[in-house]
Amino acid sequence: MPYLDQLQELARREKLAELGGGEERIAKQHAAGKLTARERIGLLLDPGSFVEMDKFVTHRCTDFEMSDQKFLGDGVVTGYGTIGGRSVAVFSQDFTVFGGSLSSAHASKICKVMDMALKTGMPVIGLNDSGGARIQEGVESLGGYAEIFWRNTQASGVIPQISVILGPCAGGAVYSPAITDFIFMVDQSSYMFVTGPDVIKTVTHEEVTKEALGGAEAHMEKSGVAHFMAPSEKACLQSVRKLMSFLPSNNLDSAPMVSSMGEGNGDPTDRDCLKISKTLPDSSAKPYDMRDLIRDVVDDGEYFEVQPGYAANIVVGFARMGGMSVGVIGNQPAHLAGCLDINASTKAARFVRFCDAFGIPLVTFVDVPGFLPGTKQEHGGIIKHGAKLLYAYAEATVPKLAVITRKAYGGAYDVMSSKHVRADLNFAYPSAEIAVMGPEGAINILYRKELVDAEKKGKVAEERARLADHYRQTFANPYKAAELGYIDEVIAPEETRRRLIRGLRVLQTKREKGPNRKHGNIPL
Ligand code: HXC
Repeated sequence: MPYLDQLQELARREKLAELGGGEERIAKQHAAGKLTARERIGLLLDPGSFVEMDKFVTHRCTDFEMSDQKFLGDGVVTGYGTIGGRSVAVFSQDFTVFGGSLSSAHASKICKVMDMALKTGMPVIGLNDSGGARIQEGVESLGGYAEIFWRNTQASGVIPQISVILGPCAGGAVYSPAITDFIFMVDQSSYMFVTGPDVIKTVTHEEVTKEALGGAEAHMEKSGVAHFMAPSEKACLQSVRKLMSFLPSNNLDSAPMVSSMGEGNGDPTDRDCLKISKTLPDSSAKPYDMRDLIRDVVDDGEYFEVQPGYAANIVVGFARMGGMSVGVIGNQPAHLAGCLDINASTKAARFVRFCDAFGIPLVTFVDVPGFLPGTKQEHGGIIKHGAKLLYAYAEATVPKLAVITRKAYGGAYDVMSSKHVRADLNFAYPSAEIAVMGPEGAINILYRKELVDAEKKGKVAEERARLADHYRQTFANPYKAAELGYIDEVIAPEETRRRLIRGLRVLQTKREKGPNRKHGNIPL
């Protein structure tokens, strides 16, 4: 065939592949308010950076007259490109081809880019929009899924893995995103569940819509399965790009440094944090929003919160300090007084472990009155779930810095990046209260007899106030802990930013290795 004809034939095939399931199905996808697999890749990656692989792959199924129905690419667009100039592997399921369902050929394409990502140390981003296992292929499709699950597990902690749900994700198919590090969902157009509304109705007679069962809001606020929720696909993919800017490409690389001087005026590393003293209320019983404090400390006030809609009593997210990417965790006094419960513990534990796996230092702001009491928590397993957070902080070897802003009581003091679980630098404000429990609870136990006597004399309120004050002066301050060296320095809130940045810089060369073992046994 002459050279020009060869090129024409290539162009014809490429065009055919790019049409996926055809113009009619593309129109249907658009009518449903969804973008196509290729349009999504276009929004996710740096313009013009995408290089496609396996564009002409087709399925090998011959049952159900499938030999007559072949589409180039077989329902998934795979390849690599860049985000912010750094390489990423990507796969994007094409709902216009057999509903994006997963055949063995489709699975092999995904596995190929995952293998390449693991070999070269680049993150994998999966754009999911699929009817699940390709029904016509039966067990071959199930095998394909398991090949992906296995690779997800091998890649865990080696390269960041991100799942973006942009349509249905049902049955066992949910388990690949579940193993990955972060799940993004779009309000009203993506959903995830192990069994759908029809099966639920048959088995439990419960009636539920797919949105209420497994929509973005349900997974953001109730289950905690999703980490980010966006109002549109475009906003969602922008958000993925933003997350990537905080992450290294793999566990041997560092996250990119972004000059804290930024564009324009920048954010000096030695500036005073002037808002903190106004954020912290005079009374230790009053709530405040820990995010206000965090924003006053980090570069340009930018805190990229993870799972903002779930377990609001703890906040986790990424920020930069002096240009360095950090994971910032804070108890949130504005919700449940910032106490630790089951959901807060598992949310923060997973975040701490992610940061540790990828060498991102941890900065923790502590204001915790303890663990949430109650039968619901005890019977729900707060013992094992709370232990996850303790375990996560204790095993983390990245630089760990903590600031006690107010309360650090009981077991929660130990858990929240205390010196005893090997935090590197621990600061406390003069307003910090570090003790086994709060004054009210403590005096009830320590002075039961005195309080009974005072009650008889009708002077219980005065006696209570006097004893609480005495307790506060003895224990509810940072100085006992500072005497013992459990706090490295008591600092004024204004100094927070420069102290933490100085600490992060000195800890950049931290090297710590745990004991040699196959793996630990985190309380699951
Ligand atoms: C083959 C499928 C398919 C599938 C959809 N299609 N799902 N083809 N295998 N799993 C095809 C449809 O036949 C249709 O083809 C096209 O994709 C679009 O589907 P529609 O039904 O027209 O779209 P919509 O109305 O938007 O509904 C989407 C849907 C529905 C909710 C996903 O298609 C659906 O319920 N599909 C089956 C889902 C399912 O039960 N999958 C198995 C789950 S179990 P045409 O030619 O008409 O365009 C599972 C196990 C995984 O996945 C286990 C891993 C371990």
